[in-house]
Amino acid sequence: MKFKFLMLFMAATFTLVSCGDGKKKEDSPEKAPEKEAVKQEEPKKEVSTATFDENEPTLDNKGIGPIKNVTLGAIDEAMAAKGKELFKANCTACHKFKKKYIGPALKDVTKLRSPEWIMNMVLNTEEMLAKDPVAKGLIAKYNAPMARQSLTEEEVRSILEYFRLKDSQ
Ligand code: HEC
Repeated sequence: MKFKFLMLFMAATFTLVSCGDGKKKEDSPEKAPEKEAVKQEEPKKEVSTATFDENEPTLDNKGIGPIKNVTLGAIDEAMAAKGKELFKANCTACHKFKKKYIGPALKDVTKLRSPEWIMNMVLNTEEMLAKDPVAKGLIAKYNAPMARQSLTEEEVRSILEYFRLKDSQ
């Protein structure tokens, strides 16, 4: 009888121990996929910047900044002439129209970006480069931050008019 008892006791102990082991084994695989899932999310964001195509139109994006809505009429040539002078003075250090320079070639930029986005890019450059997905894609490629110019909304609007005139030619 004593022997049977001992056997039962041993069997019970064995079961308990293996149960305990089983639990530990269950715990670890549960935690591991969580960690993997977190790791996978980060590279995805980087890939979207790396595969960003600057020639893909993003006209739905108005950007981030003071300009919420621009109403465009027929091209105002007098305004565009003012914009041309401002562009020469503030932008040609980094931009050409037909060729990439420090920054992207700006010919046809009005066909790629919304008027609001273009104006916010000039008026609110730092925040755009930090948060806007298109601006982030551009800075990842050009590797140089566009410098914000101290221009008024009206001045930047006239540069936009100059871009519209160029893109209509
Ligand atoms: C110090 C150089 C520099 C100056 C000055 C500069 N830019 Fe830029 N610009 C850049 C760079 C570089 C980019 C690409 C984004 C980045 O890397 O910051 C860019 C991007 C842009 C874009 C987006 C182009 C696209 O393909 O979507 C516009 C529009 C623009 N600049 C307009 C202007 C205007 C207008 C001025 C003058 C008021 C100006 N920039 C002055 C360097 C400059």
